Formats: sequence, C-alpha cells, structure tokens
Amino acid sequence: MNAVIVGAGYVGGCTAAVIASQCKNMKITVIDVDRNKIDMWNSDDLPIKEPGLEQLVFESRGKNLFFTTDTTVVAESSIAFIAVNTPTKSCGIAYDLSLYEAAAEMISLNAHNDMIVIEKSTVPVGTAEKIALIMSEKSRYKFYVINNPEFLAEGTAIRDLLYPDRILIGGNHIQSMNILKDIYRKWVPDEKIIMMNSWSSELSKLTANAMLAQRVSSINSISAICEKVNANITDVSFAIGSDKRIGHHFLTASVGFGGSCFKKDLLGLIYLCESFDLTEVANYWRGVLSINEYQKKRFCKMILNEMGGTLRGKKICILGITFKKNTADTRESAALDIINFLTTEGAAVHFYDSTYTTNKEILSAVPHKSAYGASFGCEAVVLATEWDEFRELDWIKIYQNMTKPTYVFDGRGIINVAELRYIGFQVFSIGRK
Ligand code: UGA
Repeated sequence: MNAVIVGAGYVGGCTAAVIASQCKNMKITVIDVDRNKIDMWNSDDLPIKEPGLEQLVFESRGKNLFFTTDTTVVAESSIAFIAVNTPTKSCGIAYDLSLYEAAAEMISLNAHNDMIVIEKSTVPVGTAEKIALIMSEKSRYKFYVINNPEFLAEGTAIRDLLYPDRILIGGNHIQSMNILKDIYRKWVPDEKIIMMNSWSSELSKLTANAMLAQRVSSINSISAICEKVNANITDVSFAIGSDKRIGHHFLTASVGFGGSCFKKDLLGLIYLCESFDLTEVANYWRGVLSINEYQKKRFCKMILNEMGGTLRGKKICILGITFKKNTADTRESAALDIINFLTTEGAAVHFYDSTYTTNKEILSAVPHKSAYGASFGCEAVVLATEWDEFRELDWIKIYQNMTKPTYVFDGRGIINVAELRYIGFQVFSIGRK
C-alpha cells in the first residue's frame, strides 16, 4: 500500500517515520513544497530534532520512506495524510486553512484513483465534510475524508506516536476508517483506537488542548493567591493532583503556557462558540487565555517593582527562551514576551538557552554560550524555561560574578529558594511568597 504525507513538518515527519517503521509493507512518501526542508530530511541533519527520530528515519529512508517535492507521487497512492500548518489567521481569530486547502487541491489534481484523505492537521469542526466536497468537485475520483487528530507533544513526539493514549478516527465511511484502523493496529492495541463521526473527533482535538491549557491557567491563577497568603504552589499542586480524579499532569505553575498549539486551539474554540452565538461558552475559554496573559504580565511587573521601578540601563539575564524544555521551538514562548517587556523598559538583556546553536536570532537580546556567561555582570537572572541543566547550576559562582544587589526571578519554580537566599540573592519564585 502506498501513502503520501503532505507536509514535512513536526507532525508529518514524525508520523511518516513511525508508520514506515511499523508498517514495512507500506511505502510512505512525504511531500513538501519547501525544497530546503526536503533536502534536510534526505540528509544527516534532519530539520526536526526529537529523541528517537533519527534512528527511525535512518532505518527506513530509501527503503519504504521517501521525502520529495514531486507531487506526482500522489498518483501511485491510495492514502494521503494532510499534515500542513493551520496557523491562526493574521486577524488573530480563526484558523488559516490556506495551506490545508492547497494540499487538498494538490491531492485532488494529482490523484489517479479514489483515495482516503486523512486530516492530521488541526482543523475547525466541519472541515472533513467541507473538504470532501471541494475535492470531489475538482476531480472525477472519490475522496473519503477522515479526521485523525495528532496528540503528540514536542520533545516526546516519537514516544507519543509509538505509545499513544488513544487514536481517534472520525468519519462516516466505515471501510476507509477500517483501513486506517488496520494501519494503527500494527502497533496500537485495539481498545485504544476510537471511532466516531468527524465532527466529534475534530472537536475532541481542540477540546483536549483547551483543557490542558485550562489546567495550566487554573494552577497559575492559584499561584497568584499563593504569593499573597504565604502558601506554596508546589505543595498545593501536589495536594490537588493526589486526588486520582484530578491527577498530577499539567499542574505545574509557570510564567505562562506557550507553544504553537494551545493559544491557536483556544482561539479556534472561541471562534467556533462565537459563530454559534455561544457567548458564555466563548467567554469561559477566553478566560483561560486571559489568565495566561495576566500571568506573564504579573511576572514582568514583579521584576520591575522588585528592581526599584525602573530597568533603564540595568543588565538582566534570561535563562531559557524555548516554550518548554527539550525543544528548540520558541513559538509563543513566554520568554519572548519577557524579553520584549524588559527591553522596552530599557534593560540590556542577555540570554542563554540549552538550544543555543539553533536559537541565536533574538535581535533585541545578546546570546551566550552558557548560563554563567549570560549572567556575568547582570543584576538579575530570570528563569523562563525549565531546562534540566538550570536545576544544577552553581549559584555561588553565578552570585560572585553578578552586580549587587542580585535578584533571581524564577518563572518555573525550579530553584531552591532558601539556598539561594542564603547565598545572598533576592529571590522571587512564581507561587511562593
Ligand atoms: C500540546 C499538547 O500537549 C499535545 O497533546 C498536542 O498534540 C500538541 O499541543 C499539538 O496540538 O500539537 P506541546 O505544545 O508540544 O503539546 O506542549 P505541552 O507539553 O502541552 O506544553 C505546552 C505549554 O504548557 C508549555 O509552554 C509548557 O511549559 C506549559 N505547561 C505545561 C505548564 O506551564 N505547566 C504544566 O504543568 C504543563
């Protein structure tokens, strides 16, 4: 069986590598218009870094896994996965489906037989139905469009794909849905493969991200109370999460969630609610976003106030600029908002991130090769990402090389507050008085 995957990004590349490794009888070809990206997928330097990805790609590439810009390979395929970006529109509300529609059109124009088209990209509810109509109008073949949302998280993409909590298959053409199910059954237990209509599965994808984001905003809202009443958010979070009905995941207070998906999917959900006049529901989910913005602003204001109300001419070090650890991605990262705030207030910002080599392009701040270099001569260190190496820093060495008075602002709750105060730092940690 031949399948194409349109879109050589995170979802497309990782999904292709996993299907090729688990289904040796399938030939998987990843297509992208970006020649540079395809060249990288065909080289030793893959465009995406994920634990386990290289091994899978190197094992299958040239055997049953191929990367190309040639769209005519669609003609030899019976299945097409669409895994292109569906970002938020520039007006800031609904999804921009232009890449998605271009991919669907490309498939319908190149098809030489009836095809199963699988939506991997996150799309508005109702897209499967609409896209099936559009594709059929452009071709004499039939297209059975199925929604099969992706739940992988960056940094654990291959593990998430190999051992998923669930696979959703949403559609109305049972034979096509069973063909997709049979692909997954090669490595996913039957009981984890859930079938439903496409509206339900499209909505489930948005809601899953919205609910994860809601947990983060909920705990972040409580972190603000902790700081007022001398409670400790780590203890409160542990206490809450110990209730099996609640659980511990996504209850770590932070300076705010980032990444390419949470905000985008919340906006998508809000837009959906508003389009059906569900104002109260839209407002409920808008609250999740508002708390996230509030948390970032609150943290920035705390830095400003604690450092005497002005940052002009002060040198501040940011540790971590990615939206979470174990990724090189800085999209919607809270660290970028913090840098923006600090530079607008007149501070000179220096930064270090564990992905130093890939993330040197923040023009308003000076990159360094280590946390020690970045903090040298600074008055404050701001921890914005929870990289493991920041838990093991030599704070005595950092303190000795900083300008006094010396501040640490911990936006991730990863430092030992008492120890740093003992060294001489003024310490402010999110959710701790
Ligand atoms: C998220 C979802 O977790 C995936 O299931 C989903 O497939 C993906 O979006 C997507 O739609 O593509 P991802 O954006 O890679 O994955 O990152 P997460 O691990 O969910 O973290 C998102 C943000 O929340 C990060 O900034 C993280 O630091 C923050 N976070 C997470 C917290 O502040 N506290 C927590 O307890 C957990």
